[in-house]
Amino acid sequence: MRLVNINFIDVEKHEYYVAKPIYSSGALLLRNGIKLTKNFVNQLKAKEINNIYVKDELSEGIEINELIGHDELREARDNVRSQFESVKQGKDFNRAMNMVNNTVGDLLDIMVSNRDVGFNISNLRSMDDYLYEHCVNVSISCMYMAILMNYNKKDIMNIGVGGMLHDVGKIFIDDSILQKPDKLNEAEMKEMQKHPRLGYRLIADNHGNNISSTSKQVILQHHERWDGKGYPNGLAGPKIYKMARICAIADVFDALTGNKIYKQSIPTYQAAEYMYSLSEKYFDPYMIKEFLSKVVKFKEGSLVELSDTTKGIVYSQNNQVLDRPIIKILVEKSGKMIGNRNRYIDLMEDKTLFVKGLLQGDLRH
Ligand SMILES: [Fe+2]
Repeated sequence: MRLVNINFIDVEKHEYYVAKPIYSSGALLLRNGIKLTKNFVNQLKAKEINNIYVKDELSEGIEINELIGHDELREARDNVRSQFESVKQGKDFNRAMNMVNNTVGDLLDIMVSNRDVGFNISNLRSMDDYLYEHCVNVSISCMYMAILMNYNKKDIMNIGVGGMLHDVGKIFIDDSILQKPDKLNEAEMKEMQKHPRLGYRLIADNHGNNISSTSKQVILQHHERWDGKGYPNGLAGPKIYKMARICAIADVFDALTGNKIYKQSIPTYQAAEYMYSLSEKYFDPYMIKEFLSKVVKFKEGSLVELSDTTKGIVYSQNNQVLDRPIIKILVEKSGKMIGNRNRYIDLMEDKTLFVKGLLQGDLRH
């Protein structure tokens, strides 16, 4: 199985089978196992579904080990969307918050059973649901970091709920600002920066007693920065609440790796390098190193080029060093296509080589 960009699927040359069901606006579009046709590809393009999981000759034998899978992620996103909408419409606040707690608890149970997997969550991205998908991903990353730092279950849940609700204040920000495809002007930026306080006030005003003070601080402080240049209070270093420092890392990581209306996503390994360069300025330097060391940089099924120009597909991970996976060779460094001949390079064994970057396209002619 591999995740592939729809623009690089050529059904006239190769066979592809859908490896995870594809949904659009909540309805099943293509079920698992179905063979892709030109017609299906055009339908996906029309619905702006850009990346899909497929099984094909290149990805034979490859399984993707995810911390949280596609279906569970989708379910969590749908729950969060309906709870945020209830809150927006002024419906029973405590009921909505209980549902949020349940969703976070379900995600935590799945994570605990997959705890040996590096940080690798399924790719689920749609422009319409950006806010909800972002909240779910941030909640998961927050809990992952809290597990890494040996927090107790109650604290892990509290930070998970804080992560899920960190941007809840955005329900009060006008869509014209949230959905603006260009850079925000100064007045709009000021408006946008109100969301941590608005979220905090929302919980406080509704006497959300099923939301802990930890979660509330995460909401309020997730845009504070290590160097004191964040908002709303310009707190610096250890003055920032510990759990909010975790959420700041989770928030930026997901913002970089997810497509937004005004910005294309960047690959995980580049996001990790970029965030590393910002440690000490933006983030708690200890926490950022811990987190980045556990992030899967090159997912199974990704097409990559090695430092000696060999090209191949990521076959499986080396869980100790997540930027040195096992690669199945597809094109030798001489340029010769060797196809499916089961030759592998384990980058933990051959340390003279490293992954130079991800490749687009198919590698086959
Ligand atoms: Fe935010």
